Amino acid sequence: MLSLRNVHAAYGSVLALRGISLEAPEGGIISVLGANGAGKSSTLRAISGLLRPSEGTIEFDGKPIDKMRPEKIVQMGISHVPEGRQIFTELTVMENLRLGAYTRRDGDAVKRDIDRIFSYFPVLGERAKQQALLLSGGEQQMLAIGRALMAKPRLLLLDEPSLGLAPILVREIFSIIKTISEEEKLTILLVEQDASLALSIADYGYVLESGTVVLEDTAEQLRGNESVRRSYLGY
Ligand SMILES: Nc1ncnc2c1ncn2[C@@H]1O[C@H](COP(=O)(O)OP(=O)(O)OP(=O)(O)O)[C@@H](O)[C@H]1O
Ligand SMILES: [Mg+2]
Repeated sequence: MLSLRNVHAAYGSVLALRGISLEAPEGGIISVLGANGAGKSSTLRAISGLLRPSEGTIEFDGKPIDKMRPEKIVQMGISHVPEGRQIFTELTVMENLRLGAYTRRDGDAVKRDIDRIFSYFPVLGERAKQQALLLSGGEQQMLAIGRALMAKPRLLLLDEPSLGLAPILVREIFSIIKTISEEEKLTILLVEQDASLALSIADYGYVLESGTVVLEDTAEQLRGNESVRRSYLGY
């Protein structure tokens, strides 16, 4: 469904991606792991059109998307939940969710989708009319995921959903992510520093170092190999 081949990208003179190649088949959870600065967020930004590759190709459903504008990429069915969430804190929970559906014209379906998001994240339903500013960090993460789902993506890019959250809440969010991927038949590219947690719900994993893939395997193999865990995954 998604395929990156030899993708290079830079921020000015800082080379962030040095030949990333990865595949995400339809319907699974693919985890992208690696230390700080390895290029995980930049990989997601390249896919969603926020960082222009200088070399290489990115295809979605067999079509090249590496020269498309971010808005067009959203319309093709790719939603990105960036690091640090970036919800609109001055707007209400409901307004944030509606904004996620701004490219859609099917008003009745939008209402049903909001209800479905409230069923995944009941706390958002309870706080629908409150300013997003008043939500806790974990609730804001739920809102960011909910808003991304409102665009009806087929591919969801999640950047460090665990960042800054208490372990118990992280486990709750990860279990909801797993449920959503199964129920919505959604493909998820999950960027995480917590390798153990990510591999507990992923089907396949890629490990990045200095902007390139140094290791890839099924999540089961990565989890089961102690020397891989110690040298690359830090647990
Ligand atoms: N806006 C930017 N301007 C300049 N350099 C950047 C920018 N964003 C990232 N970089 C650099 O690009 C490289 C890859 O960064 P990236 O944010 O993709 O890493 P990451 O794997 O997501 O790290 P983290 O786990 O800390 O989020 C790093 O060397 C980083 O310093
Ligand atoms: Mg990052």
